[in-house]
Amino acid sequence: MPGIVIVGAQWGDEGKGKITDLLAEHSDAVVRFQGGNNAGHTIVRGDQEWKLHLIPSGILYPGKRCVIGNGVVIDPKVLIDELDSLRARGVDVGGLRISANAHLIMPYHMLLDSAGEVKLGSLQIGTTRRGIGPCYADKAARLGIRVQDLLDEKILKKKIVAAMEPKRLSLRPFEKDPSLDLHTMTEEYLTFGHRLEQHIADTSKLMWQMLDAGETVILEGAQGAMLDIDHGTYPFVTSSNPLAGAACVGTGIGPKAIDEIWGISKAYTTRVGAGPFPSELHDAMGERLRERGGEFGTTTGRPRRTGWLDLVALRYAARLNTMTSLVVTKLDVLSGLDRIQVCLSYRGADGAEFDDFPYHQTVLHHTTAELTELGGWKEDLGECRTMSDLPDGAREYLDFIADHIGVPVALIGVGPGREQTVWTDAGRATLIAPAVRS
Ligand code: IMP
Repeated sequence: MPGIVIVGAQWGDEGKGKITDLLAEHSDAVVRFQGGNNAGHTIVRGDQEWKLHLIPSGILYPGKRCVIGNGVVIDPKVLIDELDSLRARGVDVGGLRISANAHLIMPYHMLLDSAGEVKLGSLQIGTTRRGIGPCYADKAARLGIRVQDLLDEKILKKKIVAAMEPKRLSLRPFEKDPSLDLHTMTEEYLTFGHRLEQHIADTSKLMWQMLDAGETVILEGAQGAMLDIDHGTYPFVTSSNPLAGAACVGTGIGPKAIDEIWGISKAYTTRVGAGPFPSELHDAMGERLRERGGEFGTTTGRPRRTGWLDLVALRYAARLNTMTSLVVTKLDVLSGLDRIQVCLSYRGADGAEFDDFPYHQTVLHHTTAELTELGGWKEDLGECRTMSDLPDGAREYLDFIADHIGVPVALIGVGPGREQTVWTDAGRATLIAPAVRS
């Protein structure tokens, strides 16, 4: 112990990479527990920038243990490319361990993902088209190919045949796609197996050993609460559970091994892809947030939809995760505004007001945000390092958020650099803070 979970509290892209990177330096291990290369983390170190999709951000620290847990879906080609590019930049990747039970994204998953979106037409989800949904679907259908299968040629071939067979109809338009040739695919995946073999392990056992030894383990979620397949804005969600609860199942530990749950939220809201977004802005303010916040996807480059901070959704996320600390990122993006708006409730099509997140999709899709106006601040925040450096307006904004969701703010992001952070008193009282701040 301790086990510290870091999760997105909105629709993903909250800046988890920077926070994980910051906390990872003083932890013993960083573990991913769900999602795949639909995620993307940008880490800035001095004048160097790193974009990681699968490998936990802790890899940049020499000798740190990094684990890709069983709950992650892995595109082995992407993983190997990422390993090669890290190695080429002089990073030691020897500490990476990959769960033998994690599922593999296969060429047909990517084709099915794209075909599914095309078929949905105007109803499409706006997936990253990385094959995430079809891979998790195969896992649930017990047709998945796992990392361990890469080490057994006979089993691998058998499983690929069994998995492709039921998809014959949907795959007909791709019949001539060379990546669907059984022999080519098996050979390619066996080669991936050889490349990854040294990293493949029983990561659940490794987790127990690390926690039993009193090591600090960061469990890093991808995406965010509102994209959760069970509790998010279904069907406009990803195909896994980005909630803290999934950190256990996705790594093979029990809930009692978790000591703290950190939720990450931007000071405003963004979303990529389709689906409800009650506090979305379609005006110049939305454009301002996108430009000033650099709101373009790390994985797909798509412009993100932007809006005011949605406290209905954030409170919901705090409950779903039993969040113990909140991190507010990108507060600097709001500098220069006279007034800031926040969404405190939703208004339904029939005029009904919702303080809590509506459970019914039809209701949610027709709600609009009820906004409250707060004072802004003019000052640039990039150089602020303590709470007292922050202007009154910024401090009041943070207090308002913490009061409303009932979770203390631990840490604030005031710029992209890892030093551009402000710890609060509540943050200093967390388990990891003493190590980070010493
Ligand atoms: P999928 O995860 O590729 O199936 O995409 C499903 C939905 O989740 C789409 O709306 C995506 O834009 C969204 N999504 C998936 N991963 C991320 C992420 O890392 N950040 C933000 N949105 C994401």
